[in-house]
Amino acid sequence: MTDRSVPFFSYPDLFGRYAEEYLEMVKSVGCRGAYILQEDLARFERNLAAFLGAKHTLGVGNATDGLHFALRAAGLCPGDEVILSSHTMVATAAAVHFAGGVPIPVECGADHLIDPDAVASAVSPRTRFIMPTQLNGRTCRMDRLQAVADRHGLLIVEDAAQALGSRFQGRAAGTFGIAAAISFYPAKVLGCFGDGGAVVTQDDQVREKLLVRSRQRFRCGSERQDGGCASEADVLNLFGAVGVVANLGGNELVVLGFHRHRSFDGRLPLLNHDLVAG
Ligand SMILES: Cc1ncc(COP(=O)(O)O)c(C=O)c1O
Repeated sequence: MTDRSVPFFSYPDLFGRYAEEYLEMVKSVGCRGAYILQEDLARFERNLAAFLGAKHTLGVGNATDGLHFALRAAGLCPGDEVILSSHTMVATAAAVHFAGGVPIPVECGADHLIDPDAVASAVSPRTRFIMPTQLNGRTCRMDRLQAVADRHGLLIVEDAAQALGSRFQGRAAGTFGIAAAISFYPAKVLGCFGDGGAVVTQDDQVREKLLVRSRQRFRCGSERQDGGCASEADVLNLFGAVGVVANLGGNELVVLGFHRHRSFDGRLPLLNHDLVAG
């Protein structure tokens, strides 16, 4: 048997190939002094929402903050249990911990995603949330998870950090629960320069609470209220993604930040759970 290795992609090579385009964006941001919470970010948020078919998206510093804020904004109280997949990044459980909740990991099914039967068995009187991780381009059995949630009066917050472009029965990952978080860490589906993330929600009240939580600074002048955090997606970190997502139309496929230049030729097939799991 011959050894074959797949090289990891090279950030400098990818940057070099589109350096002029990227530097132009940096120049534009620098010349306008538009570092944070500017129209560039607002445009990104609008386009991302349109791409997902979501009501609101909100740029944050990273998906870990996004999950933490989403849980708090959706009403998590200290000691509440959050059922999550045992096969995920540690950030999923960390976000629950930061929010004051108790992570309850459960087993996965044959698709390596959270098993709805395992979720149902783990529900206790203290359970408030189910937090499925949409992993490896696949989307969990959201119909079955929603049924468990409905039966027990639970809310779903999706860890969609890796899931941009993934769908279940035609609906985009990130739009199922009361809120979700997506990551723009450089190696993610849509990578940016540095770290970045977004919270997705269909709920106006959750959005309001998220604004106060993640952009506290701007709500209260220079003072931050107790318990507030500032985790803003800054324009420089996102500009790689901005240039890309700005042109997305209705059903157009995700054009990847860094990755578009690597292997997808500008297009990533939208992954469908049934297709992948079948
Ligand atoms: C499944 C999953 N959840 C959460 C995160 C955290 O994302 P971020 O690095 O943007 O905080 C990641 C990213 O590595 C992830 O893969």
